Amino acid sequence: MPNTFHEYFISKTALPIHNVEYEKGCFSFHGVPLIPLVKKYGTPLRMYYLPSISQKIRAARVIFKKAMEKLNYNRDYNYCYCIKSCHLYDVVSKAVKENAHLETSSAYEVELIIQLANRQELNPDIQIIHNGYKTQEYLLKILELKSLIDNKIIVVIDSLSEVNIICLLLEKRNMNCDVGIRVSHYNPKGKYPHSSRLGMTRENVVNKLVPIIQSQSCLTLKMVHFYVDAGIDDKGVYIDQLKKVIELYTFLKPSFEELDSLNIGGGMPINQSLTGSNDYDLLIRKILSTIKLGCNKNNVLLPNLYSEFGKYTVGESCTTIYSVLEEKTQDDSESWYMLDNSIINLLPDVWANKQQYIVLPLNLWGSSYKEVILGGLTCDGADFYNSSTHGEPLMMPYLSDKIDRLYVAFIHTGAYQDSLSGIGGVNHCLLPSHKILFVDRAKNDELNEKLIDLNDDLLHPLAILGYV
Ligand SMILES: Cc1ncc(COP(=O)(O)O)c(C=O)c1O
Repeated sequence: MPNTFHEYFISKTALPIHNVEYEKGCFSFHGVPLIPLVKKYGTPLRMYYLPSISQKIRAARVIFKKAMEKLNYNRDYNYCYCIKSCHLYDVVSKAVKENAHLETSSAYEVELIIQLANRQELNPDIQIIHNGYKTQEYLLKILELKSLIDNKIIVVIDSLSEVNIICLLLEKRNMNCDVGIRVSHYNPKGKYPHSSRLGMTRENVVNKLVPIIQSQSCLTLKMVHFYVDAGIDDKGVYIDQLKKVIELYTFLKPSFEELDSLNIGGGMPINQSLTGSNDYDLLIRKILSTIKLGCNKNNVLLPNLYSEFGKYTVGESCTTIYSVLEEKTQDDSESWYMLDNSIINLLPDVWANKQQYIVLPLNLWGSSYKEVILGGLTCDGADFYNSSTHGEPLMMPYLSDKIDRLYVAFIHTGAYQDSLSGIGGVNHCLLPSHKILFVDRAKNDELNEKLIDLNDDLLHPLAILGYV
């Protein structure tokens, strides 16, 4: 039986693991020691290690290149960053510096790209894929962007109603546009809802959309797109859907000479538990071989590929760190470690999706340990994280009676948490926001830090609410 948290941890798994290292009392994430940062900036702190974003993009390109070479898949692979997974300028700008293409889902996201274009940060090779349901406002923004930049833009049609509006808007401006088709899918039997509201069914594509595109000289069909919520590692569901999409692609291809691209969406998995790991090479080879088989069967040229990895791009770059305020023991069996902010507010996926993260203490690894529940600061009964709801046993060191407070890190929290919870403003129980810290590595290997602290103006939430 291990005596200390450190002994317990190494009895379960070897270090370093999933970007985490602990040596001689020093906990580091992506090689960055975290204790000095929380001492300097305080908690709750969300830290993004920006070089991880570049590494992930480069790694994905290598994975696809290797798979394409192995399978003799002689077409292009295009890496897009799905910006809704994290909109922060420093994050998006890092992806843009890697020449990742960008995928949007709303008018405001297009405005974000207009800002990048105005700052001269958009390399002309970067393509923009416009996904999601298109309101008139969204379509107008897309055309505003299109008239501003020469970059390739593809509007992925999500609903039949969009086509008529976009044709009218294009006609008025004497413009043309490349379009894609988002193919909707059905969930496995027994899963509610059975259909997805996103995209168009095969029947609607073939019977209604195709005749419109064929009759409109302002539209050029370039891409077939799909996205499965369950992710690309849910092989049964994903591959099944992929086969149907390839079937549609090969059916459409003879009628549309310019159609040459397949967008396989997002859903590339990341490490969110200590025990799992991902065989990306195998995953991508399986996808590519399925596409190849479907195209060869129908004698159709292989498509260029696009992916829109959000979580994969940014998830593993980030950790969210809290301090433990005190231990509350309510009965003999449950020990609550009270955190200095809310889990619901800062990590909404824990609450909404029962999302599991790797959760580790930053310090006190030399102390003995016990199973705990982490409690958030709101008065909502669901504001907690524990092992029975969220996965692996949640062991934490005993709290020290010395001045040493315990810090707890949720690992790989970079995707969607800031988009879902919002940054700044009015939060549950009017709790303050977390601070956001970007850490980058300069060419001489020195670390640069940049902090966003929206709690400077404590009156801001009250002003939003009409009190000041
Ligand atoms: C159309 C589309 N593409 C890509 C993504 C990104 O998915 P992920 O973050 O799982 O890679 C999403 C996420 O909702 C999406 O809706």
